Amino acid sequence: MADAKPFYWEYTPEPVTREVFRIDGGVPLRGDVPISGSKNAALKMLAAATLTGERCRFTNVPEIEDVRVMTETLRDLGVVVDHPAPNVYEVASGDVEWLFVPLEAAAKMRASFMLLGPLLSRFGRVIISNPGGDRIGRRPVDLHVEAMRTLGATIEYRNGYYFATAPGRLRGTEVRFPLVSVMGTENVMLAATLADGHTVIRPAAQEPEVDDLIEFLQKMGAEVERTYPDTIEVRGNRRLRGADHRVIPDRIEAGTFVIAGAVTGGSVRLTGAPCDHMTAFLDVLRDTGVGLTCTDDTIEVDGSRLRDSSYRAVDIETAPYPGLPTDLQPPTCVLLTQADGASHVHEAIFEDRLEWLTELNRMGARIDLVDNHRATIRGRTPLRGTEAEIGDLGRRLADPRGARGRRPVDDPRGAPRPAGV
Ligand code: EPZ
Repeated sequence: MADAKPFYWEYTPEPVTREVFRIDGGVPLRGDVPISGSKNAALKMLAAATLTGERCRFTNVPEIEDVRVMTETLRDLGVVVDHPAPNVYEVASGDVEWLFVPLEAAAKMRASFMLLGPLLSRFGRVIISNPGGDRIGRRPVDLHVEAMRTLGATIEYRNGYYFATAPGRLRGTEVRFPLVSVMGTENVMLAATLADGHTVIRPAAQEPEVDDLIEFLQKMGAEVERTYPDTIEVRGNRRLRGADHRVIPDRIEAGTFVIAGAVTGGSVRLTGAPCDHMTAFLDVLRDTGVGLTCTDDTIEVDGSRLRDSSYRAVDIETAPYPGLPTDLQPPTCVLLTQADGASHVHEAIFEDRLEWLTELNRMGARIDLVDNHRATIRGRTPLRGTEAEIGDLGRRLADPRGARGRRPVDDPRGAPRPAGV
């Protein structure tokens, strides 16, 4: 690998798909909504399935673009991915022939970087593109890369790609993160399941999706355990087996529907909703005055307060789980435009995840952006229909100096491919 030839490629990023939603508002939403499986759990499990040559089967997988991109990426590696029924995926990684995750996958989806840990650990080498992802700050992967080096990998970065090798097995050790990283925790966890020895990850992310991944890995025969709330320990095995798993429901989707019911003054019942995973968010909504009734797996939302009076202003701050999820900060801000008084918002996880609020101002909100991480929302303001552009979900390339703009001349699949791999 060290003397791999320089490679030539040509990659033209697809233009960002501009989807248009036309919404006729002013209608209180009513009805029942079944909640889908969790995107951020399903994507990691699809990656984890490459840790074994045996077949893995997943149910309750959401039918979304990111899952399609992940399954296509796996197929390009030589992995067999079957889709026998809606929401059911079967993955068999017996014949992985191509240890290369191209820029095309990475530019579409940051979670493609979740293939680093399992491929490196099982096959001892992988070339993987620097990922893109949503436009919510720089979103580097340095923590993933440093953690793999701590486990004994050699990783070089050239032309937008990480060249990672681990002759023999990775070595279990203590991995200490300077901050809590969801995918960083998960990547190390996957790598450590096949490493030689004992790995301790600290501080480990506590998101429910991480625990769902732990459950799946345990079914595969991995010795992984959360020993303290912020600590995960792994004892490496030489082999893992195939397993079946049902993906947990998506707490972010559920939270978004909760807000949709509340902000329209409607009445919505969510089924298959993971109340237990949404405590911090539901507490914020109760503070504003939204009516909520939770059972084991349903949430009923009563937004009648909006019609009779107003919601109350509250200050919010995003935090790693069990705190308020950054992914529910945007819908919560919409709700706060309908609360009486000033609400202060602190987005503590990502930089530039408040920029979209300027579009909300164009709809009639009164929001001051204090800095990259802070905003003040003054309500209650009626919102009116307008044309709004949402930039933070658009895709971008993580490293514009890297592999943009060229495609390998001789690559039959059209993916950028380094020579000599
Ligand atoms: C996961 O991203 C989720 N994505 C995100 O959901 C979610 O917003 C985020 O966690 C926080 O909850 C997936 O699980 C696929 P982090 P992740 O590493 O793991 C910094 C979605 O699409 N950091 O926990 O990438 C980072 O910049 C999304 O559903 C580094 O500095 O987030 C951030 O400030 C949007 N270096 C903080 O850590 C690194 O190497 C936490 O990010 C990694 C992260």
